[in-house]
Amino acid sequence: MEASFQSLSLLSSLLFLIISLIYLSSVLLTPNRHRKLPPSPPSLPIIGHLHLLKPPLHRTLRRLSQSLGPIFSLRFGSRLVVVVSSPSAVEECFTKNDVVLANRPMFLAGKYFGYNYTSVITSPYGAHWRNLRRLMSLEIFSASRLNGSSPVRQAETKLLLLDLSKNSSEKFSKVELKSKFSELSFNMIMRMITRFTANSKEAEEFRDVVREVARLSDTSNPGDFVPVLRWIDFGGHEKNLERIQGKMDAFFRGLIDEHRRDKSNDSVIDHLVSLQESQPEYYTDEIIKGLIMAMIFAGTDTSSVTMEWAMALLVNHPEVLKKARVELDTHVGQDRLIDETDLSKLNYLQCIILETLRLFPAAPLLVPHLPSSDCTIGGFVVPRDTILLVNAWAIHRDPKVWDDPTSFNPERFKNGEAEGHMLMPFGMGRRACPGSSLAHRAVGVGLGSLIQCFEWERVSEEAVDLSEGQGLTMPKLEPLEVMCKARAFLASVIGRELGMVAVVVGSLKQGLWTVTMVKIDGGLVEVWIMVKGSNGGGLSVALLVKIGAAIHFFPFSHCSFSLLCFAAMATSDANPSSDFSLIALFLLCGFSC
Ligand code: HEM
Repeated sequence: MEASFQSLSLLSSLLFLIISLIYLSSVLLTPNRHRKLPPSPPSLPIIGHLHLLKPPLHRTLRRLSQSLGPIFSLRFGSRLVVVVSSPSAVEECFTKNDVVLANRPMFLAGKYFGYNYTSVITSPYGAHWRNLRRLMSLEIFSASRLNGSSPVRQAETKLLLLDLSKNSSEKFSKVELKSKFSELSFNMIMRMITRFTANSKEAEEFRDVVREVARLSDTSNPGDFVPVLRWIDFGGHEKNLERIQGKMDAFFRGLIDEHRRDKSNDSVIDHLVSLQESQPEYYTDEIIKGLIMAMIFAGTDTSSVTMEWAMALLVNHPEVLKKARVELDTHVGQDRLIDETDLSKLNYLQCIILETLRLFPAAPLLVPHLPSSDCTIGGFVVPRDTILLVNAWAIHRDPKVWDDPTSFNPERFKNGEAEGHMLMPFGMGRRACPGSSLAHRAVGVGLGSLIQCFEWERVSEEAVDLSEGQGLTMPKLEPLEVMCKARAFLASVIGRELGMVAVVVGSLKQGLWTVTMVKIDGGLVEVWIMVKGSNGGGLSVALLVKIGAAIHFFPFSHCSFSLLCFAAMATSDANPSSDFSLIALFLLCGFSC
């Protein structure tokens, strides 16, 4: 017993010695140790400054910059990290040093989720990355492609409006917006990538995988900073990454196969699959899967948290909300819903979005950069392979850069007055976000629709708490709950707008239930259930439920019933005596009766 205890303590001493030697060699043999590194607080052996890193990280790093200066360095285990928090240092990073700093650190998550560092987010700077960015700007983010995918975003926004109006047409009702925005952004991106509706069972399961990927990418892997922990797979982190990557990959494979079988669409995967046919050696499945991954993981949470922060700020500032609504009523009116072509006229809405991104940038430290060779920033040496973090959040709240920086004041962006200030929610330089114009459209139309169609109030007198929670994309600590009430014009407008684009493609009748497939906006196939009844006051009532999410009660009169049936015969080849033709026509005609 004693012998085994002794050998155990011998083993742990040996392990400690090995770890210390590795740490010392990594610190002492660093070629730049005699050069002028940015200032750094005292550190501990092995872990360096990891013990100082309390969440939210951007706040801790700002506190450190207040004592150490705008360029300082830390050790995350064996890795040197430089943090910049001043406009002049950032300018130096993304002008003179832009190419040198255009690499990314190779964290373990990038190996699994970034297809062995070949996806656009994780790929090192070079010909492959340039090609991916060129492909994205031509095939996904060009103005013509974004115009082409605009109906998909409109359709998803309308479904959100329908959903919200469910309980709010008569009176204010409480809604939790975080999950609504998350679903909206996810569905918008999924339907741009693939024609499939994101409400399918597989898509729902895939959303769980997405959440898991975000969680695993977020929980900084200690093995990325203390290599010995990577060798022993501390906490089974690598096994978890491998398991989740397997699920993610299977879902992507399924999507690509499906699109290969049926090429009749205009989605991102369709374009990539046709490029693969002409250049199979370059557009491999791995490359396509990496692009899909990048769009989903970089494009969904970022947009949804931005909408959530914006709504939180708006209910805390009813005077701003009111001005935004006046602008919408003036430029869009109440006869139709806002669409993406209106955004250029809605200057105040744009100011609200910019001010939200200033106060709550979804990537407060951007995405880490990595110099491919030694460089200097602010006179300090930043050695090759250092992790570079840019504290955009701190710069956005720097009183030397912005007047009254913590106040929500969209007016500061009016007439381009803030031009020249350091606003960088999408990063800067070569590695800046390629999806910023898509984000502006999606957030603009999502937020604009909510302001146009509903009245919004806080759930209590107290202002909404604006504390940040933990997570890659700076979520709100508490999911946003607000009161909403549909404006009077919404029912007729949304009915008409949905009606113009809905076509029934099939139906099945079971007693009082009718299951109906409706094609909306030329792409989405939705499955609806209708239950007919009466409200006791001479009105027939149809309860329409979209499978997966209850949608609305649609009351209609007997007179409109016959009109709708007539329209059914005229506009669809559905049998007008069946219930499903009623739904079809109801959607086709909207609420015009
Ligand atoms: C409000 C929404 C968004 C914000 C705040 C945002 C912000 C950012 C930031 C800060 C970066 C890193 C820049 C850097 O490294 O310096 C980035 C990169 C990226 N973003 Fe966005 N983003 C948003 C929406 C989107 C959307 C909608 C997409 C695509 C669907 C997208 C795709 C990407 C990709 C692929 C990268 C990696 C670029 C590279 O490494 O070359 N983002 N984004």
